[in-house]
Amino acid sequence: MMVTPDYPLRTARLVLRPYVIGDLDDLYDIQSRPEVVRYLLVGARDRDKVRAVLAERIGSMAPDGETGSLSLAVVLPETGSVIGDVVLFVRSREDRQGEIGYVFHPDHGGRGYATEAARAMLWLGFDEFGLHRIVGRIDARNTASARVLDRLGMRREAHFAQNKFLKGEWSDEVVYAMLEDEWRARG
Ligand SMILES: CC(C)(COP(=O)(O)OP(=O)(O)OC[C@H]1O[C@@H](n2cnc3c(N)ncnc32)[C@H](O)[C@@H]1OP(=O)(O)O)[C@@H](O)C(=O)NCCC(=O)NCCS
Repeated sequence: MMVTPDYPLRTARLVLRPYVIGDLDDLYDIQSRPEVVRYLLVGARDRDKVRAVLAERIGSMAPDGETGSLSLAVVLPETGSVIGDVVLFVRSREDRQGEIGYVFHPDHGGRGYATEAARAMLWLGFDEFGLHRIVGRIDARNTASARVLDRLGMRREAHFAQNKFLKGEWSDEVVYAMLEDEWRARG
């Protein structure tokens, strides 16, 4: 199944659109910060690595409906700058399973932007891609991210003790999930 969302996606305060080459500076400003990547599986990236990641994202903008990922830039319309990065992974087409992720610039935290953009990715997953279940997987210490998933109405489904060796220490992973019926019930 080929899905081509009608870009840009608009939420009340944000614009979500495919990445372009000119997003390098903004993306670097997010991905190079140790405080941003603290609970992520990846480390802080240098400019060359961000350039490579950006090229990969631009090239993967049209998932073929099998497994794959769709990353979108979250833009603040007032300034036109990229303040966040959101992703929808299709983990299994057969089982219609997906996963969302989100990474925001700390200067734009505390306003509900991450929750708003992540909700748009749930919409994309359930309503455009026809997924049945979407998860969010976080480091148990990442309480800000847990609150995002709570606000989205996702259920805390599992807590895995020390199943990741992350940046030199064992860490716990918490999995949140939402089913398509639960998404529809929220209206
Ligand atoms: C995870 C992350 C996106 C959360 O950012 P955030 O700013 O806390 O989340 P939001 O943008 O949804 O903002 C929510 C906060 O804004 C407040 N807020 C203010 N105005 C709001 C509004 N209009 N709507 C909703 N919330 C609002 C909320 O009360 C909430 O604060 P609280 O969590 O202290 O209660 C951010 O910490 C981040 O990018 N971290 C690094 C990357 C990362 O770990 N990503 C997740 C990997 S699993």
